[in-house]
Amino acid sequence: MISPSTNFDQSEINPLKSLDAWEEDVLERYPDPASIANDRAADSYRNYENPERDTVREFYRLNHIYQDYDFVLGKKNNYLKFDKQEMPVWDAFRFLNQLVDDSDPDTDLDQFQHLLQTSEAIRRDGHPDWMVMTGLLHDMGKVLCLFGEPQWAVVGDTFPVGCAFSDKIVYPEFFKDNPDFNDDRYNTKYGIYSPNCGLKNVHLSWGHDEYVYQMAKDYLPEPGLYMLRYHSFYSQHREHAYDHLMDEHDHEMFKWVDLFNPYDLYSKNPHPPDWNELRPYYESLVAKYLPQTLKF
Ligand SMILES: [Fe+2]
Ligand SMILES: [Fe+2]
Repeated sequence: MISPSTNFDQSEINPLKSLDAWEEDVLERYPDPASIANDRAADSYRNYENPERDTVREFYRLNHIYQDYDFVLGKKNNYLKFDKQEMPVWDAFRFLNQLVDDSDPDTDLDQFQHLLQTSEAIRRDGHPDWMVMTGLLHDMGKVLCLFGEPQWAVVGDTFPVGCAFSDKIVYPEFFKDNPDFNDDRYNTKYGIYSPNCGLKNVHLSWGHDEYVYQMAKDYLPEPGLYMLRYHSFYSQHREHAYDHLMDEHDHEMFKWVDLFNPYDLYSKNPHPPDWNELRPYYESLVAKYLPQTLKF
């Protein structure tokens, strides 16, 4: 099961039309309470006949089958060496934008626009500049797709491996085909962990969150790092399914994760901010927090 990505069938690599389809699904699951489109969004989530939902379902099926303990450790071992590539920060943002998917007419905004809209919404609300920086960087880990990783090993709700899968995770029924499901080391409530051992000791499923956290861990204050590392951990920040693994410090820090999450989910705006006007601010922000080049 620790197969390199190249061993997957083409249909198992990119089940979604575009990476954004996962985020759109999250948005339907957790609609913006302030939005008047609320009811419509909830209705469309319940519409299981929608063919687009089938691709999302297939995406979760693959994610839940293949993200087992060995897979996660294998990916960490490979990617956290950061020995693949090094590039100037602004080149990295441009690189990320190659993820634009021509086959999806609904994807009208590129990856950088999502980052910029998130950071601008944070800035508008007067939060500290390190949080603005966090907003701008939070999805940089999606470059994993450009390194040939399957969509289900880049995006998707993250969840702990090495212990029982919670039924609060979306589509929990697919976990029965995960090898860890029948492995006595990993299928009890605590598995390899101990009560309230703290998330720093827990391995989450592999994806863009852990990758960008590790990339940025020397550059941002701890609350920003929690936002990066756990922004897709919906079964905890929305459903509180893993309180038994968290320690006091995690709970304190998750107040920041909760603060960040609506900016990620609900800042999408069809009118892109004027980059030329914003550029000087962001150039000095990036120079303040990040080194000149990022390692991948
Ligand atoms: Fe993300
Ligand atoms: Fe995001």
